[in-house]
Formats: sequence, C-alpha cells, structure tokens
Amino acid sequence: MAWKVGAAVAVLLGFVGVSGGVGSGPDPRRAGWRDAYRAPTEIPFPAENPYTAAKAELGRRLFFDPILSGDGTRACATCHIPDLAWGDGRARAATRQQGDMDLRTPTLLNIAWQDGSLGWDGKFRTLESVAAMPMAAPGNMNLPMPDALTRLSSDPSYAAAFAEAFADPAITRERLEAALATFQRLIVTGTTPFDRWIAGQEDAIGEPAKRGFDLFNGRAGCASCHSGWSFTDNSFHDIGVGVGPDIGRGRYKPTSLALQYAFKTPTLREIGQRGPYMHDGSVPTLSAVIDLYNRGGIDRPSRSRSIKPLQLTAAERADLLAFLATLSTSAGRDLVTISFAAKAPAP
Ligand code: HEC
Ligand code: HEC
Repeated sequence: MAWKVGAAVAVLLGFVGVSGGVGSGPDPRRAGWRDAYRAPTEIPFPAENPYTAAKAELGRRLFFDPILSGDGTRACATCHIPDLAWGDGRARAATRQQGDMDLRTPTLLNIAWQDGSLGWDGKFRTLESVAAMPMAAPGNMNLPMPDALTRLSSDPSYAAAFAEAFADPAITRERLEAALATFQRLIVTGTTPFDRWIAGQEDAIGEPAKRGFDLFNGRAGCASCHSGWSFTDNSFHDIGVGVGPDIGRGRYKPTSLALQYAFKTPTLREIGQRGPYMHDGSVPTLSAVIDLYNRGGIDRPSRSRSIKPLQLTAAERADLLAFLATLSTSAGRDLVTISFAAKAPAP
C-alpha cells in the first residue's frame, strides 16, 4: 500500500516536471470526462420513419437533384456541400439572387442525433419537417410543395423509385420528407484521432491536445454546452456574439430576455473545415473563436452565465486549438463517404 502511494506521488511529480512550468499535470477528472464522449454504435431512426436502403437511396438522389428548385439551378447540396463538411463556407447563405440570407448554413453532420430542435433557433421539431421550408422559400429553391410533387410524379424514374421505397407509387409530401430525412441521418462523422483516444489508444492525440481536453472540460467550461459525443447540448445560448437584428434571429421570444441572441450550440465535429464561424459567420478563424471566448464576448444581460473572460495564457489557447484539431478526420474526402452501416431501431 505504501509503495502504491509513493508511486502515485512520483508520477504526479513526474508530470509536473514534464509540463515544464506550464502548470499542473493531467486533471484528475480526465478519465471520468473521457467516458462521456464514447461514440454511439447505431444511428437513431424514429419509429415513424425507420431506415430502409431504398428510402435512403431515394433521399440521396433527391438531396443532390436540382429538380427540387423552381428554375432547376439549386439542390439541397448547393448549400450543404459534402466537401465543405456539409456547409457552404460562406458567412451567410446565398439567396437565389446571390444576396445574403440572415443566417449561416449549418453543417448536417450527425444531424440524426439532433432531432427535436433543428435550425439555429430550434424552430423545426423533426428532421422530416425541415425540407419544405428551403424548397418553398422564394429567395431559396423557390418551388412550392404541390409543384414539386407534380414534377416528381411526371418523371417515370422517380415514380419507380418512390414505388420501390414505399411499396406504393403515390408521391406525397410525407414520403418526400421521409426519404430526404432518411438520407440525412446517414451523414455521420468518420472516426477521428479524438475518437481513437477515447476508445483507449493513448498515442492517438498529442499531449497539447490532452491538456486542451482538460481545459475544454475544466477551467474553460466549454463542455457545459458543447457536451457529449456530438459536442452539443442541443440548447440555445447567447455567448456574446450577434448584434442588431440578430437579437431576434435565434431562440428569442418577446417573453424572455435571457433568450435574446440565443442560438443553437453547434457541433464541433470537423470544426477546422467549417469556417467562418457562428450563426452569422462573423468570426473568421478558430483562433479568433478562442480569443472571443477568452474575452467573454459582449457583456450584456442576455449573455449566458457560463460565458466570462477566461484569462487563458497563450500556451493554453494553443492547447485548446490542438484539442479542436483532433475532432476532424484526416482527409476532407472522408466526409463524402457516408456510413451506410445503418440499422433499424431495436424493436
Ligand atoms: C441557400 C442555401 C440552402 C439550401 C439550398 C438548403 N439549405 Fe438547409 N439550411 C440553410 C440555412 C441557412 C439553414 C439555417 C436555417 C435556420 O436556422 O432557420 C439551414 C438549415 C438546415 C437544417 C437544420 C440543421 C441544423 O443543424 O439545425 C437541415 C436539416 C437542412 N437545412 C436541410 C436542408 C435540405 C434537406 C435542403 C433541401 C431540400 C436544404 N437544407 C437546402 C441553407 C440551405
Ligand atoms: C454557454 C454555452 C457555451 C459555452 C460555455 C461555449 N460555447 Fe461554443 N458555442 C455556443 C453557441 C450557442 C455557439 C453558437 C453561437 C452563435 O452562433 O451565435 C457556439 C459556437 C462555437 C464555435 C463555432 C461553431 C460553428 O459551427 O460556428 C466554436 C468553435 C465553439 N463554440 C467552441 C467553444 C469553445 C472552445 C468553448 C470553450 C472555450 C466554448 N465553445 C464554450 C455555446 C457555448
């Protein structure tokens, strides 16, 4: 027993020595924190819209097909671009007339885990319900649902694909939405160095990234909102960005001051490929994001109580960036490979 205690003390002292004055060794809470990031083994599909391969394939075709826009120039993939981590790399999405929309295009990565509150303001309750809005919006795809259904019905190859997916040839709004959602639930991140580390491979990420993980979960408090495998609490916060009309573009309802400028917590998966950042694309780089959190954003009554100046040293800011870099797959191309290892939900 005495030997064990002595060894533990020696290890602790060793870490203090190795970190060369940066601070202390690994946070003793690290092992517990790691448990919260284990990858799920199955994609969740709702009972009302279970996975089938025919539905997913039909959804894939629809997602990339400009037939869903009025003048045949836009598809869902015009803005949710696989090679750009399923976003579009713009600060705010482009209107049909090449103007700016109010909001940035969010990634669709791991969208299956976000059912219940989709959109920057959470206005969509299900993934199925999202598609009709961009399709019909005059500034976006500009094709009202009845016109879309007529168009698809007069295309024999779509009639055949719907018949295969739904055992019935009728093309309805519900089926169109079900197919698109089934495809989107397959947009899942590949295994990253971070995931390999969580699974137990100690050398999968470097020491700076491990220190960054401790900060992320500890003193910097990031994990209070960017929590779990998908790095989001699926909730809404004002982190002190957004000005002017952005006050009402998030969760805000006139009854609650606290929800002014409150936007959905985004996933941090593939974050390096997804700039510019925030709902309005106002923060150009990841180091600018860290600087923003270090300053604490705009101090105002609606700002989350979890956001405050952090007083991070330059070395700590670098450690946080090293950690964020482990949340991406090595090659951007991996993102195009959608996992088809989908299973129907357990009965
Ligand atoms: C002009 C670019 C554009 C096109 C085209 C587009 N989207 Fe989007 N998408 C956006 C923007 C911007 C948002 C954020 C909207 C909001 O929060 O109100 C969004 C949000 C979403 C979300 C919610 C994501 C989240 O994290 O909450 C889903 C799902 C989605 N779109 C799917 C689709 C589908 C399916 C299509 C095709 C039918 C489509 N989008 C077409 C720009 C686009
Ligand atoms: C109070 C909850 C909260 C805390 C704490 C928090 N975040 Fe965020 N984070 C958010 C929200 C909400 C957004 C989106 C804000 C917006 O668009 O207006 C965001 C956005 C981001 C983005 C940009 C994502 C994107 O797709 O644009 C990054 C990167 C990020 N946070 C990293 C961090 C790091 C690192 C920390 C710790 C230093 C942290 N966050 C702490 C809630 C939080």
